[in-house]
Amino acid sequence: MKLWLVFLSLVALAVACGHSPAGEEAGKAKKPDGEKIYKTYCITCHGLYGNMGAGGAYNLQVSKLNEEERILVITNGRNAMTPFKTLLSAEEIEAVAKYTLQLKPRE
Ligand code: HEC
Repeated sequence: MKLWLVFLSLVALAVACGHSPAGEEAGKAKKPDGEKIYKTYCITCHGLYGNMGAGGAYNLQVSKLNEEERILVITNGRNAMTPFKTLLSAEEIEAVAKYTLQLKPRE
């Protein structure tokens, strides 16, 4: 369960860094748009529907990973996939991980 330890420390880090006293500002409560992030950063390899597979990118329509596991892959990268921890905030990574969970094969 080493993976869990890594994940937990990431969460702890995100919580520690993400705390801002000005967080209550009006209009700032907007959640990051997972679909928009996906279309900006992910379609080059995974394609609009998650199944393009450029450069060996995994077919996200058939991925069995849960949300936490996707967050880990997106945050730290894996093999040919680049890490996004320097590009996206923890909230943005969570939003895009949620979005990929909705990608399903179309009839
Ligand atoms: C540079 C091309 C590239 C980009 C950009 C990219 N990926 Fe990937 N992704 C890959 C590759 C290649 C793999 C397979 C990694 C492996 O073989 O271990 C992968 C695997 C994954 C997996 C794991 C799927 C599984 O079931 O194992 C997830 C989830 C994922 N990508 C999500 C994303 C998201 C979300 C983004 C945008 C924030 C993104 N990827 C951007 C190339 C990319």
